[in-house]
Parts: sequence; structure tokens; C-alpha cells
Amino acid sequence: MIMWPVLCALRLGTLLVEISFSSAKSTGPRGRGDGCGHTLLGPDSGTLTSRNYPGTYPNHTLCEWQIQVPEGKNIFVKFGDLDLQCTSDYLKIFKKTSSSITECGTYCGSLNLDSREIHIDSNEVSIQFKSGSHISGRGFLLSYATSSHPDLITCLDKGNHYDEPQFSKNCPAGCKAVIGEVSGDFSQGYRHTSALCKAAIHAGVILDRLGGNIDVVQHKGLSRYPGILANGVLSKDGSLSDKRIVFNTNGCNQPLGMELGHIAEHQINATSFWQWTDANGQTVSWSPNKARLNVPGPSWAAAEGESQQWLQIDLGDRKCLTGIITTGSTLPSFHFYVETYKVSFSKDGQKWKTYKDSNNNVGQIFKGNTDYYQLTRNNFIPAIFARYIRVIPQSWNQRIAIKVELIGCQQIRSITGNKQKPTHPIDIQDKENVNSTDPVITNDINYGILLIAIVVPFVLLVVLTILGIYTFKSLRKKKTQDIGTSGQKTACWKQFKQSFKRPQSTEFTINYSHEKEILQKLDVVRSDSSDIYCTAGGHLPHYVQTKI
Ligand SMILES: *[C@@H]1O[C@H](CO)[C@@H](O)[C@H](O)[C@H]1NC(C)=O
Ligand SMILES: *[C@@H]1O[C@H](CO)[C@@H](O)[C@H](O)[C@H]1NC(C)=O
Ligand SMILES: *[C@@H]1O[C@H](CO)[C@@H](O)[C@H](O)[C@H]1NC(C)=O
Ligand SMILES: *[C@@H]1O[C@H](CO)[C@@H](O)[C@H](O)[C@H]1NC(C)=O
Repeated sequence: MIMWPVLCALRLGTLLVEISFSSAKSTGPRGRGDGCGHTLLGPDSGTLTSRNYPGTYPNHTLCEWQIQVPEGKNIFVKFGDLDLQCTSDYLKIFKKTSSSITECGTYCGSLNLDSREIHIDSNEVSIQFKSGSHISGRGFLLSYATSSHPDLITCLDKGNHYDEPQFSKNCPAGCKAVIGEVSGDFSQGYRHTSALCKAAIHAGVILDRLGGNIDVVQHKGLSRYPGILANGVLSKDGSLSDKRIVFNTNGCNQPLGMELGHIAEHQINATSFWQWTDANGQTVSWSPNKARLNVPGPSWAAAEGESQQWLQIDLGDRKCLTGIITTGSTLPSFHFYVETYKVSFSKDGQKWKTYKDSNNNVGQIFKGNTDYYQLTRNNFIPAIFARYIRVIPQSWNQRIAIKVELIGCQQIRSITGNKQKPTHPIDIQDKENVNSTDPVITNDINYGILLIAIVVPFVLLVVLTILGIYTFKSLRKKKTQDIGTSGQKTACWKQFKQSFKRPQSTEFTINYSHEKEILQKLDVVRSDSSDIYCTAGGHLPHYVQTKI
């Protein structure tokens, strides 16, 4: 049984007023109370569940989440699952504005897995979950995004929920920690039973922290799917399936030549290496040149008792790096591997930058290997644009030992989406590195063109956006007035979709995805910590982390 309220009742908060907006911000984006489960409230989208989901939630618990998206945007909530006992438990959604709190709905019972969407015409929403005494119930999982993402799916959606040979969806932030199996890998695709958003994180198409658009193509299945740890998600070995899903990306994911030898011996260096003489008097050298993925023999290994070791690779010229694959010693008699590492990069081999976690601006720690022989992949989102790269082990088993392959491409894409010739990369220095006495650009770059390329589309976009918002607002105002005169007061409106396979105007999708791309680019332009050059994944923001 589901109780869907007919209208939003005005509620001048008893329970909710006590939670001030500012305290919600200062304690960080979490739920408040002992009934909160997995929660990730990203800047534009997020995911939240009841405690223990999908296990039974506890008796007598409470959780309240405050959700806020950028001003001027509306929130769009989508249930992935709901199973609450109506006798004692409920979920309430409140719309918040600066002056009022309005109840949008009380939810309990169970959903029959069809999507349930709620549009709220405010950028702030409060969600409250309360349980009394009950025997069973999985609780709930829901996602939200700004209403500019009507293609939002939840973390529970799987490839086999869709029949279309090709489709685009929007993943919310926070799917990595949600239950759901992923089977396969980026290169050949995933078993169609894989959880879509989690597979997209595994593939390096989206970041868990942000979510984003995914473009999926369905292909004929494989007889077997490999399991590999990638971006912190472990995919499992999978068996034969009818179909597999492949993520469309820009193709910047080619091996850059550690394995095939395009990167020569003199281009690989390290702080130290291990060598010893075996029983036959032969020197066994774990030199930097041994750090080549899939090449038999020992790996690079650091000399003993050294701290702050690194392995450095010179790519010859600046390239777009979108990922790295690592393994350990690969020799059964040496259980050496690097468990975690940092990455730094440089354009000249002199000035180095640590790859930062864009969330908290500290050096990102990548999860490396968990044994001496399996491969682990990490993607750089945003991509790195550099000539030199260092892998700096942070923790390891027995001894630092690693083989690597770098993934990326020569292709560079400017902010306007034009492909640049690799020999003439665009080069903008970080603000912090710009010296008033130094010329900012040393390469042969036409700044005027660059400026026009950035500023003109930007101004155009701003004008278009303002026009759009204005039109939208005036339309809405008109609508509200109409409703007002007919005596109805709907603060929020719900939309019940019958099925995942809802028909959709392709025109709308096309225009929407275009708009989305533009919005991402705009965000990027505003971001100080990022420059914009090579594309990282499918629909990732078109920029690289930093350039030196
Ligand atoms: C809630 O309490 C009731 C009665 O004490 C008990 O039977 C039930 O198992 C409890 N439910 C949960 C989920 O702990
Ligand atoms: C390799 O690194 C070592 C240690 O930092 C340094 O002394 C040496 O000059 C480097 N060699 C090359 C070819 O860059
Ligand atoms: C800026 O210039 C000063 C002196 O000209 C120099 O000492 C400093 O290292 C420069 N800073 C950067 C970031 O290049
Ligand atoms: C959406 O794009 C199509 C062409 O791709 C165009 O014909 C249509 O007018 C556009 N719709 C809007 C609302 O801009």
C-alpha cells in the first residue's frame, strides 16, 4: 500500500524548524539522526538510503537530510526502492523556501520497482525518515538531481532494465557504495546485469562524488567477463550473457607505450632500485625499465630502507593522461605490491604538481593493488595534461614493486570542443604559477583566438541562459497565477512513470544533452583549480586537473 498525498499541505514546521539551514551546512552534507544509511549529497545530485538498506531498518530511528542544489535550480527526486511499514514508519519530503516549509508528501508501503519521480519547485528540500516498531522492511533508496536532469536514474538501475540499443542517462552522485554487482571491464564492456552507475564509476566515465551523464550502447554478450579492481570498485568475473553494455567515450584511453616499448628505457627513472646476485653469480636487477605492464620478469622495485620513492615516466611530449594500470612484482616468490600511491606530474621535469582530490584539495591517494599479480586501474578525472608523471608509493606489501601502463591519448580538445593538433597544445598556466615578470605563455599560442574561443561562447551562453531562465520564470509565474485563481495550491508536483521504458522525445534529449555539456563547461570555466584541455571520459567535464 502506498499513501500518496493529494496535495502539498502547508506546514509551518514543528519538527523541522529546529534544523537551521546554517547548521546543516556547517556539519557537512550528511543526514542527522540514527536512522541514516548511506548518504552522499553531491553539489548537483546525490543518493540516500535508510540505515542498513537493503536490510531491515532498525526500530525507533530517525534521520533528516537537508538537500540543497544551486540557487535557481529545482530539485528532482527519484525513488529507487521503498519498503516501509505504514503502521509505524514513513518518509516525508518537505519543500523549503526562505520563508516556509511545505510538506510535499508522505511515503510508505512499497514500490513495485517502477520509477517514482517527484519534482519540487525549490532548490532546498528536507527529507525525513522515521520508524517505530516494525518487523520487516528494506527501507528506501532515493536519488535526486537538479531538474535539468530528467534522465536521472538511481544506483539500482541495471543495464538489463533497458531495451534500447543505445541510451543516455544521468547518474546521481553516490552510487559506488550502494549494493549492486558489476561484472566486466571498461575495454570490452560489462555484463548487462551490471548496476549502470557503479559500472560507469568502474569504467572511469563518472566520479562517484559528482555523478554525471552516461552514454550506453548494448552489444552482443560475451562468454565470460573479467573481474578487475578499478577506481575503488571491484568487478566480478561473470558468465555468458545475451548482452553487454559498453560506455561511449571520447576514446582517449589508449595504452601509452610502457608495454609496447614506445616509452624507451631512458624515459623511465626512479629514485632507487633493488638488485642482488643470485646463486649463479647473476645480477638480478629490478630496475626502472622493468616497470612495464605485461612484460614478463620482475617489476621495478625500490632499494631497501628508502623513503619517498618514486617511479618517473617521461612521455616524450605532453599528452593527455586519463588513467593508470598497475600490478605488483608478478613473481609468485615475491609478494610485493603497492597498496596506495599518489601521482604527481610536470611539464618540464622541474616543477611538479601533486594530483589533487578536487573535493578537499589534498593529494589524492589512489587505491593500488591487493596482491602481487592482478591488475588495478585508476582513472584521472579530470585528466592530466603533462609530459612527466611520477608514481609515488604511499603504502605497500613487503617492498615497493610495481609495473604500470599509462592510458591516454595525444588528442587535445579545447574548451570549444575543437580538436587541436598535438604538436600545438594550448597552454595556460595556473594562476598561482603565473609570475608577473614571466611571460605566461611560452608556446606558439594565439591568445586572441583563445580569448575569443572562450569568451564569445561564454557570453553567448550567459545571455541564452538568462533568456531561458527569464522565459521559464515568466511561464511559471503565469502557471502559478492560473492555479491560484482556480483555488489550488500545489507547491510540488509528482509524476508517476509507469515504466523505465518511457517514450521520450529524441529532440528533447538531444537539446538537453547539449545544454548539459554547456553547463559543465561553464562550471569548469568558473572553477579556479582547473584548466580545460583534454577530455577525460565519456561525459566528463572537458578539462584537465592542472597544468604546469
Ligand atoms: C522491533 O521491535 C519488535 C518488538 O520489540 C521486534 O519484534 C522486532 O523484531 C523489532 N524489529 C527490528 C527490525 O529490530
Ligand atoms: C634518475 O633519477 C636519479 C635520482 O633522482 C637522478 O640522479 C638521475 O639523474 C636520473 N636520471 C635521468 C636519466 O633522469
Ligand atoms: C617569480 O619570479 C621571481 C623573481 O623574478 C622568482 O624568484 C620566483 O620563483 C618566480 N615564481 C614563479 C612561480 O615562477
Ligand atoms: C532541439 O534540437 C532540434 C535539432 O536537433 C531542433 O529541431 C529543435 O527545434 C530543438 N528544440 C528546441 C526546443 O530548441
